Formats: sequence, C-alpha cells, structure tokens
Amino acid sequence: MAVPIAENVYWVGAVDWEVRHFHGYSYHTHRGTSYNAYLVVDERVALIDTVMRGFEDEMLRRIAEVVDPARIDYVVANHGELDHAGAIPAVMARAPHAILVHSKRAADSLGKYLPDGWKRQVVGTGDTLPLGRKTLTFLEAPMLHWPDSMFTYIPEDKLLLPNDAFGQHLASSERFADQVDPAVLWDEARKYFANILTPFSKLILRKVEEVQQMGLEIATIAPSHGVVWRENPMQIVEQYVRWARGEAGAKALVVYETMWGSTAEMAHAVAEGIASAGVKVRVFPVPQTDHTTVVGELLEAKGIVVGSPTHNRRMLLNVAALMEDLIGLRPVNKIGAAFGSHGWSGGAVPLIEQRLKEAGIEVVQEGLALTWWPTPEERAQAVAWGRAFGERILESLSRRAE
Ligand code: FEO
Repeated sequence: MAVPIAENVYWVGAVDWEVRHFHGYSYHTHRGTSYNAYLVVDERVALIDTVMRGFEDEMLRRIAEVVDPARIDYVVANHGELDHAGAIPAVMARAPHAILVHSKRAADSLGKYLPDGWKRQVVGTGDTLPLGRKTLTFLEAPMLHWPDSMFTYIPEDKLLLPNDAFGQHLASSERFADQVDPAVLWDEARKYFANILTPFSKLILRKVEEVQQMGLEIATIAPSHGVVWRENPMQIVEQYVRWARGEAGAKALVVYETMWGSTAEMAHAVAEGIASAGVKVRVFPVPQTDHTTVVGELLEAKGIVVGSPTHNRRMLLNVAALMEDLIGLRPVNKIGAAFGSHGWSGGAVPLIEQRLKEAGIEVVQEGLALTWWPTPEERAQAVAWGRAFGERILESLSRRAE
C-alpha cells in the first residue's frame, strides 16, 4: 500500500525481505532492506527515486493507487546506483512525457547504466522545480553515497529526501522509525553508517554544517532505505555527527581467526585482560562472524585487537579480508594492536600491524606473538597484554575528553 508521509507525498517503494547480501557480498543485510521511492502529487507529479530492478511492478502498483503513472512529470534520480535507479526504465516506459532529473555527475552513472533517449534536466545545489503548491529543491551531496548523489528537499513540508544518507538496511511492514523496535532500528542504522558511510565521515560533517547554514527546517527525513524519521528527525543527524567524529566508548573488539585453537586461546586471555581494565569487550571469531557485524560493532568501540596464526608467513585469509575491508573504510579515531600464535616461523603479527596502520588505526603497543600453544605463563602474559590495551583505551578516551 502507498503510505502518506506528508500531505500529498507518499511512500511508494518496495520491501525486500529476502536480500541477505548487498554490494556484492560485502554487506550482510541481516534484516533485508527496502528501496524507498516517494511520490509527490501536486499540479505536476514527481517521483523521487525508484527501486531495484525486479521490484518495479510493486512500485508501479503503489503509484497507481494514488495516480495513474502516466501522469508523472518528473522522475528525480537522487543517485545513480541501481538499487534506486534500476526501475527508471520501467517508470519512463509508463510515463512517456516525464523528464528525468538528476545531478551533473549522474550523467556519468545513469548514462552508462541506463538506455538514453529520455528528456533530461540537470540540477545542482539551490536549483528548484516548482510543482504547484510544492517545490522541489536540490542539494548536491557528493559521496553520500556516490559522486552523483544529491538530496531533494520540499520546503513546504519541511521534508528532506536524502537518498542513501540516514538509511538502514531493514525490511519492515512499518514505515516510520517510531514504529519499530529501537534496538533493531539503531543496530541497523549503526551497521549502515559503519559499513557504507565511514569513509565519507569528513564529508558528512561538512554537509551537516552546510545544511545548518542553509537554515533548512526539517520535520521529516525520508531516506531511500529503511524507515522514515518523523519524530525528532534530527536524532539521526546528531548521531551521524557523533559517528563521523569517531566518538566512541570504553569498548574493544577482539577479532581473530584460529587454526588449531591457540590463537583462540590467546584471544580469550586478551579479552579477559581488556575487561580487567574496566573496558567492555566483545570477541568475534571470523569467518563465523561476518565483516558487517564486526565493522558495525567497531563504530562505537575505541579499540580493536586482531589475531591470526601464521600460515605460509601470512595471516589467515578471513583476517586478511577483514583488514582489506578496514583499509577501505578507514575507521575514525581508533587504536589497535595485533597478536597471534605460530609454529616454525612467524609473520602474521607484523603484517596485521601494517594493515591496521594502512586502515588509519593507531597501533599503540607491540604485537604479541607466541609459539605453538600458550603455556600458563604465556597465557598470563596475554592477559597482561590485553589489560595494557584496555588501559590505553581509557587513557586515549580521557585525553580526548580533556
Ligand atoms: Fe542505496 Fe548507494 O545505493
């Protein structure tokens, strides 16, 4: 069913209950997702974003509950990625006089992805499109989530349609944030920010500042994934600012892969030591824990210690894949350290340290490399090493608070 989100503005998107992987296999969508399209009905009719290819019939059915799709005058593509732009051809086929509206940079993405031959209008920050009583106003938002991204704003409804920003990968029958379990909502919002938007943290801070300077009044934020923020919508903006600044608590992750169990034994001892310093700790074996979960948990943690045995003088593959993910994401204001067990020759620990540094994570103590199976003395050494890391977390948090 089409769902009103403001006067004569309707959610007409699609819910994908089944999807479990996004961006290839890099994002585990544990709770599915939604592709949100919004229909603005005025003297002229505008559709803001579409849905993933394969969901076009669901969206067109919802549009038809409100208006004949042939009446659509404008199809606004806030972003060229195919989870939002994939159904543009289906809409344009049903709305023969519609104009496709997009940013200058979207000429590249949409131009390569979609067939051409439609009427187009390129817009930039400050451009407006009057629909009658309502006006669409555009604000370019490069890298949130692609260079082509932009926000659409309807001042008459104080309604911000920011596409990927402020979203969550969450399939639900409810359409509003205040209708879903807050624990689930924030878990998905956090994972979404951590896994998608972390590399753009500085740009997020600048964009929030720009929106504040423009004095946009915001009563509702309707992203293109997940639920709509209508009660206290600025809560998600304020949370984005905290995440983008790298604000974190006294919490550490111990992430490890093991071959014969000795690195796992070290991981547990290290975790015990971290906890003894008064720091909350979470232990994640990989690949039993997917990267999306680890990266999501890291967002509000100050530190991460990563462990791997040495195999062929390298770290094990699932730890290597996680490190590759972190290098791309570049988490903000984190500290880290490496540990691991080896047999005949080592090598994994310095390699992990190198990768942590490449990810922008400050390596704050020498790695802990043990051989074969930890003796009771070595286990105690691992506990002490973990405690020292916990203390480094507390120190860096207190320095930041000063
Ligand atoms: Fe939801 Fe960047 O696409």
